[in-house]
Amino acid sequence: ASTLGGAAAAKGRYFGAAVAANHLGESQYAATLDTEFNSVTPENEMKWDAVESSRDSFNFSRADQIVGHAQGKSMQIRGHTLVWHSQLPGWVGGLNATDLRSAMNNHITKVMQHYQGKIYAWDVVNEAFQDGNSGARRSSPFQDKLGNGFIEEAFRTARAADPNAKLCYNDYNTDGQNAKSNAVYNLVKDFKARGVPIDCVGFQSHFNSQSPVPGDYQQNLQRFADLGVDVQITELDIEGSGSAQADNYRRVTQACLAVSRCTGMTVWGIPDKYSWRASGTPLLFDDNYGKKPAYQAVLTALGGT
Ligand code: G3I
Repeated sequence: ASTLGGAAAAKGRYFGAAVAANHLGESQYAATLDTEFNSVTPENEMKWDAVESSRDSFNFSRADQIVGHAQGKSMQIRGHTLVWHSQLPGWVGGLNATDLRSAMNNHITKVMQHYQGKIYAWDVVNEAFQDGNSGARRSSPFQDKLGNGFIEEAFRTARAADPNAKLCYNDYNTDGQNAKSNAVYNLVKDFKARGVPIDCVGFQSHFNSQSPVPGDYQQNLQRFADLGVDVQITELDIEGSGSAQADNYRRVTQACLAVSRCTGMTVWGIPDKYSWRASGTPLLFDDNYGKKPAYQAVLTALGGT
């Protein structure tokens, strides 16, 4: 195959990109997306502030644009994200525990039911653990008012809302073995032991010189897979340029291919100019949609030419 999506498909996997609805009208953007990728993740359009900015009043218009585009091209869609401390409208943080519980469950249910049958995997809970060595939960309205059980409740509600979607926990700085990934590992292990629904773990994989690709990246993916969940690389970007960047992208791709339950990978944007890292060049395409050395490294690692 001569495209990322085609080469990944030949390996039984998807290759996706984070997509922003407001770029779909740019012909080179859409052409690159449609040619190279067979999965999309809405970069911001499915987040709580985008779909439910006031309580129980839902607006799916921008997310629907991406879903419609993806469906027209038979791409898979990852749903991102249902329960997260960020991009959370102010009204959510103002609720008491009883109202917050019902608002969380209502949000999960209404969003998942709107997209029922269209989403391959949902990031049900995103970034619930702190950085650093504590392995502790991150402060958020959900954590602070509902306690540790909010994650289990969110996953149980999600399973009931759309029994056919894969349910993922997604986080960053969990890409190698460390206190944070150990905490996520223990959560998943506990869920599997007690029959709490969880199908996959997402490893965001935002890498730069402070946070390089860990030496034990593949082993870390494998230990989660060994718990009986799929693993996915969900928001990949790697700062740098030239052959050093290409080498890092190759390693990440090879790690996913070496783990049979690594079902696919997603890069967090298409051309560098639209990366969330405003001044960086962390993606596979340059500002003119030219293929960077990192692109060739990924394609070759996937077995494409
Ligand atoms: O939509 C408004 C627009 O109306 C306004 O004019 C403009 C002015 O600043 O802001 C726009 O909102 C921005 C939004 O992206 C859409 O472009 C926000 O300011 C900006 O903060 C937001 O950034 C997003 C970030 O999540 C927010 O946390 C990035 O695009 C998005 O790439 C990033 O993605 C996250 C994942 O969801 C979770 N993991 C980490 C990853 C990178 O931070």
